[in-house]
Amino acid sequence: MATKSILVLHGPNLNLLGEREPQHYGKQTLEDIDQALKTIASAKSIKLETMQSNSEGDLVNKIQSLSNDKVDFLIINPAAYTHTSVAMRDALSAVKVPFIEVHLSNVYAREPFRHHSYFSDIAVAVISGLGADGYIAALNFAINA
Ligand code: DQA
Repeated sequence: MATKSILVLHGPNLNLLGEREPQHYGKQTLEDIDQALKTIASAKSIKLETMQSNSEGDLVNKIQSLSNDKVDFLIINPAAYTHTSVAMRDALSAVKVPFIEVHLSNVYAREPFRHHSYFSDIAVAVISGLGADGYIAALNFAINA
């Protein structure tokens, strides 16, 4: 049986986790989060790749490559692009790879401009407000999907 392949995509400013507004995003660094995900994936023999970019174009290009790269499931925190990016939404609709949208903070408890997402209605699920545990819950779902 082919190994399942999962991609975790982190959007802009998530490279600053640990020092960036810890009251919203916690104290773990992105490296801490990625390492925890890789540990879980390798224990289950799952192929897991992680990528962070501050650039919308890079994120669109990576999403477009999902079909060719034979990725089975995507976990994505689009960060600020959640609220702005028609381009990333269109790329996700084009490749049709199932995905879970993750937010560290509860975006619905924050400013009104964070309440709208270009992704939620085409996502398998949305996890918002569980901090880094949200990525782990998403990964556990993706492994069993
Ligand atoms: C975020 C929430 C977004 O509104 C914000 O722009 C982020 C991070 C979160 O993980 O809570 O950068 O996606």
